[in-house]
Amino acid sequence: MTLGNPPIRRLGVAGLGTVGAALVKLLAARGDFAPSGERVVISGVCARSRAASRGADISPYVWFDDPVALARSPEIDIFVELIGGSEGVARAAVAAALEAGKPVVTANKALIAHHGAALAALAEARGVPLLFEAAVMGGTPAVKLVREALVADQIHSIAGILNGTCNYILSEMEQSGSSFSQVLKQAQALGYAEADPTTDIGGFDAAHKIVILAALAFGGAPDWGAAQVEGLQGVDLLDIRLAKDLGYRIKLVAAAARSAGGVAVRVHPTLLPLDHPLARADGALNALFIQGESTGRMFIQGPGAGPGPTAAAVAADIADVLAGAQRPVFQQPAVKLSQVRAAAPKALATKAYIRLIVRDEPGVIASVSETLAECGLSIDSFLQKHMEDSIGVPIVLTTHPAAEPVIFDAIARIGALPTMITPPRMLRIANI
Ligand SMILES: NC(=O)c1ccc[n+]([C@@H]2O[C@H](COP(=O)([O-])OP(=O)(O)OC[C@H]3O[C@@H](n4cnc5c(N)ncnc54)[C@H](OP(=O)(O)O)[C@@H]3O)[C@@H](O)[C@H]2O)c1
Repeated sequence: MTLGNPPIRRLGVAGLGTVGAALVKLLAARGDFAPSGERVVISGVCARSRAASRGADISPYVWFDDPVALARSPEIDIFVELIGGSEGVARAAVAAALEAGKPVVTANKALIAHHGAALAALAEARGVPLLFEAAVMGGTPAVKLVREALVADQIHSIAGILNGTCNYILSEMEQSGSSFSQVLKQAQALGYAEADPTTDIGGFDAAHKIVILAALAFGGAPDWGAAQVEGLQGVDLLDIRLAKDLGYRIKLVAAAARSAGGVAVRVHPTLLPLDHPLARADGALNALFIQGESTGRMFIQGPGAGPGPTAAAVAADIADVLAGAQRPVFQQPAVKLSQVRAAAPKALATKAYIRLIVRDEPGVIASVSETLAECGLSIDSFLQKHMEDSIGVPIVLTTHPAAEPVIFDAIARIGALPTMITPPRMLRIANI
């Protein structure tokens, strides 16, 4: 049923990699998936190499070398951007399609996190949708959940495991007892991690996604500059073991939380209680935990990447374009969209896990306790563990919640004690 809307059905697909090739296959098999009754067909395609094997027959489609030319082509009604990257041709092609008054569907989280507000303004000025369900959690519907299903709720916080590569690495380290670098190499060999893993391991991919969810949850524009990002580098097998002894599992958690001081958007390795739903999302899974005023606690889990799930999410957005749904790209018209007030780092409080490797000498623990007391940091629990493979004696302290500057001050002072063998390691303990 088209309800008088013009029949929008010819796609231009830019990018024929993991997701693009899967979309070509999905549409060849089920081009009639849209509830509007219209058939979706690909008209033009574009990638870097025309000769590359795609695992899908692209011979029926018009080939474009230039994504911008495809985006502007009068032979397409909807532009699908599956190239990736916040800048360069992906950005230029999406802008060109919107300028030309064509609806855009993209899986590009980096683009939306960095330029979502400007692109939303362009889309709304031209009266066309810009949809990006596949950009967050791949095939698991996180964007529609937050943007549509929870629109009337007041969301307090969102916390997610939003990068399957990092989650796979942490799960494998715990299960196999292998080091970070060993598991990373194995993940690269299996295709779970990129040859250059910086975007995933550095926490940036998860940060792109939580920036988008924060904008939708808190009614602002995506604010990449306000995100505080720490990656997995330096997460030690020792910490995974010690955290487990204390009843926690370490995960790379991407979180956005609202408080009186503003919204904090952060990605960092986090200790989660073993019985927390996010702690149980293993392997390459993604998961999201939302706390809302009306809805209470909600948890979803599913595939966060992969060709099939991601292409299905792209197709779902195409169905929405065909249905003609008109709503702002974010939670308010782009002309009214502004960045939500970001919480100052000094206003953030956390419980901390502090791991020390100390010389096995009398008085060490007393000097650490005195230093913490001088800083006003109170200890919640204490664990001392003799480990055969450790160069000194590992000591772990967990603290009561404290302002982060207080914790960093204490760590700096403890790190300067002569009995420390390695610099202290601090990880935050979740308060979700
Ligand atoms: N992979 C996933 O599971 C997943 C999940 C969620 C979201 N996403 C997002 O989906 C997008 C695509 O990811 P992907 O994994 O499919 O990437 P990919 O496998 O690297 O594919 C990228 C495609 O873009 C093409 N391309 C790159 N530069 C180009 C240029 N200058 N001109 C024309 N084409 C160009 C490449 O052409 P060649 O093939 O000829 O090199 C390739 O076909 C990204 O934004 C990604 O973040 C991916």
